[in-house]
Amino acid sequence: MSTRDGDANRVFHVVELTKTYHMGEVEVHALRGVSLDVGPGELVVLLGPSGSGKSTLLNILGGLDVPSSGKVFYGPEELTAADESALTRYRRKHVGFVFQFYNLIPSLTARENVALVTEISDAPMEPDEALAVVGLGDRLDHFPAQLSGGQQQRVAIARAIAKRPSVLLCDEPTGALDSTTGIVVLEALERVNRELGTTTMVITHNADIAGMADRTIWLSDGHISRDEVNPAKRAPSELRW
Ligand SMILES: Nc1ncnc2c1ncn2[C@@H]1O[C@H](COP(=O)(O)OP(=O)(O)OP(=O)(O)O)[C@@H](O)[C@H]1O
Ligand SMILES: [Mg+2]
Repeated sequence: MSTRDGDANRVFHVVELTKTYHMGEVEVHALRGVSLDVGPGELVVLLGPSGSGKSTLLNILGGLDVPSSGKVFYGPEELTAADESALTRYRRKHVGFVFQFYNLIPSLTARENVALVTEISDAPMEPDEALAVVGLGDRLDHFPAQLSGGQQQRVAIARAIAKRPSVLLCDEPTGALDSTTGIVVLEALERVNRELGTTTMVITHNADIAGMADRTIWLSDGHISRDEVNPAKRAPSELRW
């Protein structure tokens, strides 16, 4: 990857990012010029109405999608200058993803679901250790169907962090959960961020969740409309919705 313009002290450096989807005759402007920097260990919450471009931005940062224009640096490396195989290496080595639906393999236990990832990583955690971080040290041999929704999501988080990614990107991780269960999942994310120092970005529709963030970014119609440091960060257990 080329290394122009980057700064190793930043995790992400994003410059004038645009993304236009072409749907036949129609152009959808998902991102219309987004610039931001994300620092090491930051916990960022991304808010904004449906269709404002949150998932598009996260997918580009994670190397799952490419922008129409603009630049993205991961540390000193320009992702937007990387070829397909370099982007795949970036994703495998550095990025953990957590989505709304857990995508666990039903025929594998919690430990085996996590082990799938650790088998293809360089210096992974033991599956048992990753599951302990998310508070599931006593559910190692349970199958997904034997776990609650919140527990399944925590297995998905364990799977995402077991390869020790620098960045954890979460797209509506509590979207399918009630508030009590959602808070337990957020506690797992907060612990990963605090104990492992993983830079974490969380998309949510729930503005209350911004209370646990270091910083909140609001997207609106493909733009960043607000970007604010949280003056009084709160523990997930103190959040109510
Ligand atoms: N693969 C795609 N093809 C065409 N249009 C797309 C595609 N992905 C997203 N879009 C469009 O881009 C815009 C931004 O979508 P995006 O998924 O980023 O929004 P979002 O903020 O994540 O919304 P939500 O909160 O509903 O998940 C929307 O208008 C959406 O319809
Ligand atoms: Mg989305």
